[in-house]
Amino acid sequence: MYNYRMLEAARLEYVTVASVDELEDGQRKLLDIDGEIIAVFNIAGGYFAIADVCSHDDGPVAEGEVEGTQIECPRHGARFDLKTGKALTLPAVVDIPSYPVRVLDGQIQIGLPVE
Ligand code: FES
Repeated sequence: MYNYRMLEAARLEYVTVASVDELEDGQRKLLDIDGEIIAVFNIAGGYFAIADVCSHDDGPVAEGEVEGTQIECPRHGARFDLKTGKALTLPAVVDIPSYPVRVLDGQIQIGLPVE
């Protein structure tokens, strides 16, 4: 399962990645969390996080163009749902990881799965 937003809270560990002031509406921030590149987005006040690896050919999907809550991989144009990581169009057929995001005391936190 790649949609970690569906995981129960006990199986998640939240890490602070930015303050809300750092990530304005329409902005994104790339993070290196233990060697894994994850991008967090602010879309009209909603926060979303995905892994920055396209399931088609490892492209930098998080650098793609955002439309609504969809993102288009800049390499071959596959589209993904930022909310779920779901692959929406070819050439991607496999979902990418998506992570829950919460705001606590003005800090943006991403939930990572614990082993
Ligand atoms: S690497 Fe993303 S669509 Fe091919």
